[in-house]
Amino acid sequence: MTFLPASRTIDGALSIDASVLTDALPYFSYVDNILHIDGVSSQTLKSHYGTPLYVYSRRALLDNYHAYTQAFDEIEHQICYAIKANSNLAVLKTLADAGAGFDIVSKGELARVLQVTDAKKVVYSGVGKTHDDIEYALSADIHCFNVEAVSELDSISRVAVKLGKTARISLRINPDVDAKTHPYISTGMKDNKFGISHEQAVAAYLHANSLPNLQITGIDCHIGSQLLDAQGFSDALDKLIELIDELSANGITLNHIDLGGGLGVRYIDENPVSVDDYAKLLLPRLKALGLKLYLEPGRSLVANTGVLLTSVDVLKPTEFKNFAIVDSSMSELIRPALYESVMAIIPTDLSKSGDEKVWDVVGTVCESSDFIGKDRLLSLSVGDTLAVTGAGAYGFTMASNYNTRPRPCEVMVNDGAHRVVRKREVLSDLWRDEIA
Ligand code: LLP
Repeated sequence: MTFLPASRTIDGALSIDASVLTDALPYFSYVDNILHIDGVSSQTLKSHYGTPLYVYSRRALLDNYHAYTQAFDEIEHQICYAIKANSNLAVLKTLADAGAGFDIVSKGELARVLQVTDAKKVVYSGVGKTHDDIEYALSADIHCFNVEAVSELDSISRVAVKLGKTARISLRINPDVDAKTHPYISTGMKDNKFGISHEQAVAAYLHANSLPNLQITGIDCHIGSQLLDAQGFSDALDKLIELIDELSANGITLNHIDLGGGLGVRYIDENPVSVDDYAKLLLPRLKALGLKLYLEPGRSLVANTGVLLTSVDVLKPTEFKNFAIVDSSMSELIRPALYESVMAIIPTDLSKSGDEKVWDVVGTVCESSDFIGKDRLLSLSVGDTLAVTGAGAYGFTMASNYNTRPRPCEVMVNDGAHRVVRKREVLSDLWRDEIA
């Protein structure tokens, strides 16, 4: 019997068993009732760096990466980390040194990658690449463009001719499968803006074949994010295999297949597909195909390597609701506001208990959508430190300066040691480039 960390009270409040939750998070544990991250006490981190604070475990990151490389070691593969999930240079450097490539969606993301390694293992996804973007990527000699529109083929060819280079391309197919995830992060259905439809695909490849300075190397898809059900991946693979057969009947052969990212993680009590089960599901078909596999995981590599530490500044019980006002908000962590995603908020000190109440944990931003978690059963006092788990993915990268709030400091821990990997912004950073 497995114990799930989350339960609901009869009034619908969410109660999280912090010990059960952290038992399933390697490198996160309570030592003498205090939350530690890979051997470093959250109290030490707070006193060194203050809050709000993003903390990432380097060892958890490497373990997550190696879970992929081991699961797929029977076939030739390349893991290209989707850097939009967490693009801190220390995260990128850790993964690059371990052998990862990168999935990027902008010139800016490529520029980040180039701070830590070269572009040889970079795949470039993203709708709406401009000539300038393409020129930058071709000059950096990326591995491949994941092409999202027929007109993009013409643009890439034109730029490649101008630069006297050959551009390697893969077509991102929109396989029209239901990823069964939040509509904002579902990308593989025909009413989504992403990719080239199955129906247009063969013609698009033939068009690519007719253009100068393009080398067709692959086929790819990415159907969505936080997928808990593996069926979508399996259906997408079947659709791509169908197309690969049609392409070969048309004289077009490929070197690689890229199945994108999307594997879900546990935020509270979800049961995501493990990397091993995901591999087992796909490997028989991939082996038969004989193409090199590319994957673009983001969230599943980083989400559970990170927490956001935040302090309780004000407690405001009212007749209708109890509000715990913390020093993080939708500016520091927008996932709850944007997707109504439910992320665990746990105490960093388990020694204080009793007097539990149901709290809405909110920030100070002037919007009612500004919440980190609603209806949480917690025992709180002003000055407490809370940890939002699962915050390693789409946390800092989606942070903003809304309400003129400096973005948090980021720290990486590694086997008992800790270091700043991004300094906390100071107020003057926020108007540095403005002209009164
Ligand atoms: N490849 C492509 C082309 C993508 O667009 C994405 C994510 C990934 C890979 C990585 O997907 P992952 O393995 O992380 O699911 N901000 C949202 C998630 C947006 C995902 C966008 N694309 C969130 O916080 O849930």
